[in-house]
This record gives sequence, C-alpha cells and structure tokens, in this order.
Amino acid sequence: MMDIEEKDVEDIFNRAKRMEDIIHNGNTLNMRGIMVTLFLEPSTRTKLSFQTAAQLCGLGVVDFLPDVSSLKKGESLTDTIKMLDGYADVIVMRHPKEGAARYAADIADCSVINGGDGGNQHPTQTLIDLYTMLKSKGRLEGLEVYITGDLKHARTIRSLLFGLAMFNASITLIAPKGLEIGDYTLKEVNKRFSSNIKQMNTFDLKDADVLYVTRIQEERFADKYEAQRIQKEFSVSVDGLKDAKEDLIILHPLPKLTEIPLEIDNTRYAKYFEQAWNGVPVRMAVIEKVLEG
Ligand code: NCD
Repeated sequence: MMDIEEKDVEDIFNRAKRMEDIIHNGNTLNMRGIMVTLFLEPSTRTKLSFQTAAQLCGLGVVDFLPDVSSLKKGESLTDTIKMLDGYADVIVMRHPKEGAARYAADIADCSVINGGDGGNQHPTQTLIDLYTMLKSKGRLEGLEVYITGDLKHARTIRSLLFGLAMFNASITLIAPKGLEIGDYTLKEVNKRFSSNIKQMNTFDLKDADVLYVTRIQEERFADKYEAQRIQKEFSVSVDGLKDAKEDLIILHPLPKLTEIPLEIDNTRYAKYFEQAWNGVPVRMAVIEKVLEG
C-alpha cells in the first residue's frame, strides 16, 4: 500500500464498479494468461477470491500446493519463484516473511501481487476495505474510522492506515493493552500523509462511521498462551453499540474468532460478509490493471 498512488487507487475503484456490473450481468472478460497462486500461509478469502477473480477475467489458474511441492525436498524459494515465473503472467503470493513479495518481484519478470507478507502489508485487502467504505458511505474523506484488535501484528491494519490517510479519513485506534500500533508505522504514515490519527483506551463509538475489527494474530505472537488470553477477553461489546450512529458499519477482514459476538452478524451494522464479497470485483480490477502493464 506504500507505493500505490491515489490516482491508481481511484482507477481500481472505477474498474471494480465495472467488474461488479459484469458479474451481475453474468458476463466474463476475455483476458488471456495464467495466474499462479503461491500461498505459503493459510488463506481462504484472499486465495479463493483471487482465483475466482482470475477465472472471471478469463485467465487460467494454477495453484501451488506447498505441502506436495519440491519445497518439501529442500528446493529454495528463489528457485521456486524462478520456475513459476516461466509459467505465470501474474503470481499472487502470500508468505510469513515481511518483504517476501517484494523479493519475488525482484526475481520474477512477471507481475507479482502481494497477498500478505508476514505482519507487514496486505494491500489488496485495503483496496477492498476502502471500496466497501466508499460503497456504503459515498466518501472516504472525513470519515470517522475506528480501528480495534491486534494493531501490533495485523498487516491488514498496517496497510489500511496508509489507505485511510491517503484519502484524509479520520482515524481512531483502540488497542487491547500491549497490542498498540508500532511507532514506526505511525511515523511512516505521517511522513507520507498529513494524517489525523488518535489513540483511545475506551470503546466510545458514538462518533464512529466505521468500526474496523481484527482478530488477535496468534501466529505472530512469541507466546501463544498470551495471544489466547487476550483473544478470550477481547470482544466488541453489543452494549457499546447502543450509543453508535444509526448507520455505523462494522468491517472485519475475516477470519473472525470471538471478537465479534455472533448476534452482531444479524444486525444492520455488520458489513463484513459483503466486504469479503467485494474481494472478487476489486481483485478482478487489480488483475486487469496489473496485466495491462
Ligand atoms: C487477513 C490476513 O491474512 O492478514 N485475512 C484476509 O486476508 N482476509 C486477516 C487475518 O488473518 O486476521
């Protein structure tokens, strides 16, 4: 999310709108080429929505299965990427190490899309998040976006801050103790944009237009028990929504665990399943743009 410009984001939103119409009319695009999905961390939405998007664009999809690949025989990631580069027009990659997609992009001649690199970035998720806010609220500028969950480890949050700051949204962070966002990230965001980021200790949602929630990222904790303890205690309170605006929307990149009580799923606030569906048109837009060069 750090090297994409505002005009490119807007272009992707316009394309995504067109893609929605194409999907709703039961049509597909006639693009040619192969997308390889190289996922070395678990994924449901990112991988499957990219694969769906690619097929709707007309591309062939080849899925790399790490457990039955030559990585198991000791082949290096570098050699793996060099091979896939020969087969693919575009590689979508997810990896537990920060900077992995950038590394792959340096090696490969084909386009590489970052589907999440460790705790660093998840740019296409942010495009989906912003697109969903824009669809629901008609604007991003001045929107009061409250963000809660594991702000220390979640790559979705790190990308989202750049995206929201780019469009002058107003950001309020509410983290469980010890899971606050790192100073480095705040500095980086502030270096690029004159952002308005506040930090708060209590759940006071009365001014919020959007509440964005993430799970506790257990896989990025040194101490799993600590993660499980926080996850048990951390949850959006249904009571806290009493003071919320009528048209508050709750977003979540998913998967959600216990941080959103099930009863919220059936309220008008819950927009996270719609947000997940938006993954298909937004990722079609990204694929089209990337392959256009
Ligand atoms: C997120 C991820 O992988 O970072 N999932 C997703 O892509 N929608 C969020 C998460 O795992 O918590």
